[in-house]
Amino acid sequence: MRWLVAGAVAGAAMAAAGGAAAQQAPGDATAGYALAQSWCAGCHFVDQQEMRAKDAVPSFAAVAAMKSTTELSLQAFLQTNHHNMPDWRLTRQQVDDVVAYILTLRPKAS
Ligand code: HEC
Repeated sequence: MRWLVAGAVAGAAMAAAGGAAAQQAPGDATAGYALAQSWCAGCHFVDQQEMRAKDAVPSFAAVAAMKSTTELSLQAFLQTNHHNMPDWRLTRQQVDDVVAYILTLRPKAS
């Protein structure tokens, strides 16, 4: 199933590059997905439409669906200390990428 998700992400990234799409983070959502798989999936469910929390850790789809979630709020969160993560250091590019990925999980306005 993983290729399906990756395809959806790539599609979303291309749609965003296509222009008038709502404001997107300057990151690369495909790279962000790979980063999420290796860095974040131990605690969070990171896949599209996965709304379950894992041991009270919200899934990325659930984070994306919160009204309070914006590009800025995610960047601020990820640039400060993360719960239980010793010495948490993402580069600016990694933050942008993973933020771009999380924002692709937003429920589409219907
Ligand atoms: C060691 C476990 C762990 C890892 C690894 C982890 N997280 Fe988290 N994350 C948590 C927990 C626990 C919470 C909820 C409590 C909190 O807000 O600190 C959380 C909350 C969040 C939230 C905020 C949700 C909200 O309520 O606003 C975001 C965004 C997030 N994580 C992103 C990430 C990203 C991106 C990565 C990988 C780069 C990551 N996390 C890796 C444990 C983890």
